[in-house]
Amino acid sequence: MGKKNRRGNMNMASSDSQKLIVVASMNKGKIDEFNHYLESLPLKLLPQPEGIVITENGKTFSENARIKALQVSNLTGQWAIADDSGLCVDALKGAPGIFSARYASNDKDRVSRLLKELDSCSNRSAYFSSAICIAAPENKILLEVEAQCKGLISQSSRGKNGFGYDPIFEVIGTGLTFAEMESKQKRIVSHRGKAFKLLEPSLKELLKNNK
Ligand code: IMP
Repeated sequence: MGKKNRRGNMNMASSDSQKLIVVASMNKGKIDEFNHYLESLPLKLLPQPEGIVITENGKTFSENARIKALQVSNLTGQWAIADDSGLCVDALKGAPGIFSARYASNDKDRVSRLLKELDSCSNRSAYFSSAICIAAPENKILLEVEAQCKGLISQSSRGKNGFGYDPIFEVIGTGLTFAEMESKQKRIVSHRGKAFKLLEPSLKELLKNNK
């Protein structure tokens, strides 16, 4: 990460053809994933600097993505990209939703709690949602998208890949849980994959106009 300029913002070197964009996350896995989705674009992704604490107090995925992107962009003086995602279960009136990460203290307990809540329930319909926001300094929203992936909550865990609720989320029409899919297949059908696909043409255009 580069030096701070007089406004306290970050100066970060990049090749002329690449636009710097800070990923509003400290999670290395997420940054790697973003790199994967955006690899065809002239972007250089940087991790969020240490010490930024963001309160995600939005009521929707898109509000939370916006809060994260705006704060990180304002604090770094660079464009920032943020996502917010989660699992919404119909029989639980959309829970865990924006509280998906906080539903229990670890993935195993989150999965157990959800299976227990749906114990005697025949309606297993659910969907994952992913909202992505790109912001620029001075509170500018540049782009926002949101996409869903529909599925069913399985009766028990299946598969070894992925993370979070992947072992109990069976994608409609595939008969497979996210955890039974190869990462390439998950990237195509998942909420996040679809959201990045929606984002790509507008982001390409934006980058062209910001050279
Ligand atoms: P966040 O978007 O990083 O705040 O993640 C929210 C939470 O939703 C994660 O901690 C997971 O529990 C869950 N989640 C989001 N996307 C996925 C996914 O693709 N598979 C499984 N769980 C997910």
